[in-house]
Amino acid sequence: MNKKIDRRTSGLDGKVAIITGSNRGIGKAIVLELGRQGAAIVLNGRNSRRLKLIKREMATKGFIAVSFRADVRNPHECRELIEFAVKSFGRIDFVINNAAAFSRGSVEKMAPSNFSCLMETNYYAPAYLCKYAIPHLRKTKGTLIFVNSVSGFYGFPYNVAYAASKMAQAALAQALEIELFDDKIHVGILYAGYTENEEEKIMLDEDGSLVYLPQRSNVRLATRESVARAVADMIVNRTRKKTLSFLGHFAEISSRYFPRFARRFLIWKRDAIRQYYTLTGGSRVTSLRSSKVPDSLV
Ligand SMILES: NC(=O)c1ccc[n+]([C@@H]2O[C@H](COP(=O)([O-])OP(=O)(O)OC[C@H]3O[C@@H](n4cnc5c(N)ncnc54)[C@H](OP(=O)(O)O)[C@@H]3O)[C@@H](O)[C@H]2O)c1
Repeated sequence: MNKKIDRRTSGLDGKVAIITGSNRGIGKAIVLELGRQGAAIVLNGRNSRRLKLIKREMATKGFIAVSFRADVRNPHECRELIEFAVKSFGRIDFVINNAAAFSRGSVEKMAPSNFSCLMETNYYAPAYLCKYAIPHLRKTKGTLIFVNSVSGFYGFPYNVAYAASKMAQAALAQALEIELFDDKIHVGILYAGYTENEEEKIMLDEDGSLVYLPQRSNVRLATRESVARAVADMIVNRTRKKTLSFLGHFAEISSRYFPRFARRFLIWKRDAIRQYYTLTGGSRVTSLRSSKVPDSLV
């Protein structure tokens, strides 16, 4: 248990959290954790079926949740999501930028649309959402959280569309922290390590097709619940930055303080990294009507 927090007294009763990409994976775990701590939740994602399921699960547990289906790559839908939260609960305290798109492959083989999809989802979307949320967060002296990644520290080979979009997101968080300093809005960035994924987790293969990401067995995976607890702790303690996992600390320290070592290390490991990111398998997403596929695809 985090020393600074006594969970029995860290209630978030009366607080309102918007969590993007919360019908699956880490986002869903954050929903359950903040719900358990008493916050009212605005769920988001594009797949209506999964949104309904988690809303029902929240109700069964006696937690408060409403849902808003929105593609956060669209600025108008981001504005509507914010307006819906205010209309539903009268305030916004926490915005958790969690929704993300993923891809794998080399720059040479990468479908051009992958670069734009990842940038739109992982960088533009949080920027739009923050833009519309700031006036409301100013009133509550609230929190903006960015769920970033180990890949946000360095231009990782064979994963650069993702790394570049997460590095851009980190730049957004850094800038916002200064811009919102006088408003006392808390900005936190979480660099999560490799985490267990849900069966339905989809990523873009290098040719632009969709594949289900198989559970990775060649790296140590954190639980989604542990990442969710880290987010909750950051909110309660108003933590500016948190890095999870050994790999996260290694990537952060080596890229920031020993960049020459980081470069040499990646050159040394380049074959293993290429294999990890290009040969991880995964079955193709074949039917657009499959109940597992989002209503609107990437
Ligand atoms: N899993 C890991 O190993 C890992 C490691 C480090 C960091 N992270 C970070 O953790 C966060 C969550 O990752 P995850 O593994 O839980 O991913 P995930 O299982 O693929 O979930 C992604 C969520 O984002 C939603 N989403 C995607 N595009 C969207 C869009 N355009 N508009 C609205 N919602 C959208 C998806 O729902 P719909 O498809 O219904 O829209 C889904 O709910 C991400 O920010 C990721 O970068 C993950």
